[in-house]
Amino acid sequence: MISSPCPSAPEGLLAKRARLRRIAARFDCSAATRYYIIGKIATDPAYAAVLHQFRDSRLPIVDIGCGLGLLAHYLREHGCAAPLHGYDFDAKKIRLAIGAAARGGLREVKFEVGDVADLPPQAANLVLLDVLHYLEAGPRRDLLELLAERARNGASVLIRGAVREPSWRYRFTVAQECWTRWSGWIPSPARIEFPTIAEIVSPFEAAGCHCEVRPLWGRTPFNSRLVVVKSRQAE
Ligand SMILES: C[S@@+](CC[C@H](N)C(=O)[O-])C[C@H]1O[C@@H](n2cnc3c(N)ncnc32)[C@H](O)[C@@H]1O
Repeated sequence: MISSPCPSAPEGLLAKRARLRRIAARFDCSAATRYYIIGKIATDPAYAAVLHQFRDSRLPIVDIGCGLGLLAHYLREHGCAAPLHGYDFDAKKIRLAIGAAARGGLREVKFEVGDVADLPPQAANLVLLDVLHYLEAGPRRDLLELLAERARNGASVLIRGAVREPSWRYRFTVAQECWTRWSGWIPSPARIEFPTIAEIVSPFEAAGCHCEVRPLWGRTPFNSRLVVVKSRQAE
């Protein structure tokens, strides 16, 4: 529940709340989904990491498995004007994403229905946020190899996702994922299988790329890592 701002709250906080409400109001969805959108953008550092990485790049951004397209709203609200192409296999989410982008007047933003394997061919910065664990081992390896090939040819790739390892964060992440699948929010295989960090970085390393890995869970209890991949050419 978002309470009214207190009169003495610092201006930055008021502006932030107003921005979150403005974004959520663009979505033609239930009040519960709007609260989810507000909470997600407020607590998850993934969108800020993309902004930090690509703010000054002139290349388009491809958002693979873009869901509701929240990244596009975050980037535009923070002054990043790079063209953005998001795709996701969930047609309902893409419908909501297209409507919200139009209502928000987001320029040079395109959303379409597609499988992760349908990576558009154009030169772009590639973003994959919280998608890998919805793919079975084979398609996951195929996608990572496809991204590694692009990275070898000069693309920057940013991946955020939870990883498998013995920790309380990982156990919490799996428990939350059981709820997500039970709720039907994301169509996914019955078996929950998070990748290890080695599984994510090895195709890139084999392609001669440099991977920077760090925790990226922000104010969430999830076992998330950020992987930023740059080709040796870009260094
Ligand atoms: C946890 S959501 C993340 C959404 C978005 N990346 C974000 O961080 O705001 C995972 C998304 O991956 C999408 N997804 C899962 N498997 C996919 C596939 N094979 N092809 C395309 N999208 C897929 C789901 O539909 C869902 O929208």
